[in-house]
Amino acid sequence: MTILRTPADVAFTLQDLPRIPRADQVLMVDPADYDVLFAINPHMQDAEGNLLKVDRKEARRQWWCLREAIESLGIHVEVAPPLEGFPDIVFCANQVLPVSSAITGRAPMAIASHMASDLRAAEVPHIMSFLRELGYQPSALKSRDIKMEGMGDGLWHPGRRLLWAGVGPRSDDAAWVEIAKRLDVTTALLPLVDPDFYHLDTALAMLAEDTCLWYPPALSKDAQELVEALIPNRIEAPEIESRRGFACNAFCPDGETVLIQQGNAITKDRLETAGFRVRELNTSEFMKSGGSVFCMKLQHGPD
Ligand code: ARG
Repeated sequence: MTILRTPADVAFTLQDLPRIPRADQVLMVDPADYDVLFAINPHMQDAEGNLLKVDRKEARRQWWCLREAIESLGIHVEVAPPLEGFPDIVFCANQVLPVSSAITGRAPMAIASHMASDLRAAEVPHIMSFLRELGYQPSALKSRDIKMEGMGDGLWHPGRRLLWAGVGPRSDDAAWVEIAKRLDVTTALLPLVDPDFYHLDTALAMLAEDTCLWYPPALSKDAQELVEALIPNRIEAPEIESRRGFACNAFCPDGETVLIQQGNAITKDRLETAGFRVRELNTSEFMKSGGSVFCMKLQHGPD
């Protein structure tokens, strides 16, 4: 197990890390209770501090389009029930860090998040009990007073035993160090430096084993150099498309097709030039809560 903080810590290439299968399953949460009822990130209110108004019917329609797009790629989508009073539970990338059986060597494990905001705390046991029924072994962090928000900040590298871990407003360095040691997984710690990019998944998407999509200025200098040291192909999203269009909150389930918020024309063009198929989706109602395609689902497995 190695903790990577600077490029000087990288004494290997991706090919030296053990191969693991790509995650092959997707969980989504019924958006019945989705809304913007409080602001816990900079995207949820306007310049006057008013909460953004959600068109809930349109949100439901957008959620279904995303679900159908994922299913059209041959991936079965498991849907967990909503939780009354918890409008953010639809962002189900956040409540647990799923650990595949390829990593544990036994049953798959779900490590419970410690949500940064109490307003989201009750989402964790709800998602955990659903995953338990899917065969996941529940697990918890030892330290009570550290933050960790699952796959909002913890991104599994597709196909290799490596975890990319965002450190910032939602997840603490110490949480990832504990997880890296416990799982014996090489973990790259990436400090986030811009409040609009409050989760790592708003600034970095792993598309394929050798390719990422990212907005480098959201990461510290060392973090940028770490990504550069390990990932040979890096597709950069421009500032406006990253900050306002959530371009980096994209999801590539198969290493070939990228599901991404519509209207990010420059990013789309760069993805296509790099050989990816791009499927644009409208997540405008969810962007009002600070989330888009990637955080509206949890990719997990194989179990
Ligand atoms: N309103 C939610 C929050 O602030 C949005 C979460 C989006 N999730 C993500 N992984 N970026 O917690």
